[in-house]
Amino acid sequence: MRILSLGPLPQEVEEKLCQFGTVHLVDRGDGLSISAMRELLADKEVVLSEPQDKLNEETLGQNTSLKFIAQKAVGFDNIDLGFVGKKNILVTNTPGILSNATADLAFSLLLAVARNICQADTYVRQGKWKGFESNLMLGSEISGKTIGIIGLGRIGLAMARRAHGFGMRILYTRNAVNLKEEENPQLDEKDSQLAKEIAATRVSFKQLLTQSDFISLHCPLTPSTNKLLGEAEFARMKDGCYLINTARGKVVDETALIKYLQAGKFGGLGLDVFEQEPHVPRALIEAPNVVLAPHIGSASRETRLAMANMAADSILEAFQGRLPAHALNKEIWPQWIAANG
Ligand code: GLV
Repeated sequence: MRILSLGPLPQEVEEKLCQFGTVHLVDRGDGLSISAMRELLADKEVVLSEPQDKLNEETLGQNTSLKFIAQKAVGFDNIDLGFVGKKNILVTNTPGILSNATADLAFSLLLAVARNICQADTYVRQGKWKGFESNLMLGSEISGKTIGIIGLGRIGLAMARRAHGFGMRILYTRNAVNLKEEENPQLDEKDSQLAKEIAATRVSFKQLLTQSDFISLHCPLTPSTNKLLGEAEFARMKDGCYLINTARGKVVDETALIKYLQAGKFGGLGLDVFEQEPHVPRALIEAPNVVLAPHIGSASRETRLAMANMAADSILEAFQGRLPAHALNKEIWPQWIAANG
C-alpha cells in the first residue's frame, strides 16, 4: 500500500502505518502547487490530508490510484465529497477527540481579547510599565455577559460548558441550514437537556446576533454557512460585541468584518482562521483589539496525536474489511469493499 502523508506524522503513527505499506511524508514548506499535489497523489492509494489540502477534480481528476482519504481534522470543506465518492474513494475525518482542545483555544481567544492579554504582554516586554494604575488596560468582564454560540455541535457544546463555568449566559443556534430564516426554532429533547445542564437557551440567529456580548462561531463551512456573517449581521450585533472564530475563515465576510472593525463596531476579535489562509489582511494585523492565531484550534500535543492515530486506525479498519466509524461517505461502502476487500 502506498501512503502519502501531507504534513508530519507522530513517530508511533508512522510506525503503525509502515507495517501496512510505504509511507511518503511530505513537508509542505510554503505550500504545494496544484501540479505538485497531482504528482504526489498520482501513484498513491491512501492520503492523510489536512484542512489546506484541496482534494477535488483539479487535484484528482486524472487520478486512478487513490482509494482512501483520511482527513486529520473534523472539518472537510477542502474535499469535494461528491466528486471523490464518484471515484470510489472512501473518506474519513476525526470528530469528537478535538472538541475540548478547540474549545480551549476559542475560550482562550475570548479571554485574551476581552482582557487585552496580548497588548499587556507587549507593554511589559517593551518596558513601558511604570507601576500599578487603576485605569491601565481595562477590559470587559466575562461573568454575567451573554455569549452566543453559532452551531452547538460537539465543539460548540464544549465551548458552552466553558462559558457556563465562567458564569456567562448562553444563547445558541443549532442547525446551519436555513439558519438566517429560522424565526422560532422547534425545541427538542436536546434543547431541554441543555437548558437544565448549563442554562443555555436556543434562539433564532437574529436574536443571537442582537442579544450577545460575545459571539463564537462553531459551525462547519458549507454552502449555507459561506459568509454567514456579513454586513447585515454585523449591523445587527451590539456595539462593542466581541467575535471569536475558530471554525473557518470563509464563514465570515472578511472585507465586511474589516469595514466594521475600522468603524469601531467591535470590542475585539479573536481569530484563529481566515478567508485565504495563510494570508492575514494588514488591517487585522494592525488593529490593537484583534488577537490572531495561525489555525491552531486542535493543536495540543495530546489531541494532534489522537487525531493522527484515529486517521491511521480508520485506514487500517477499512482495508481489513470494516467500515470505519467516521466514514463521511458511507454510502459508497458496498462498492468500495467490493473493489478493495
Ligand atoms: C481543523 O481545522 C479541523 O477542522 O479539525
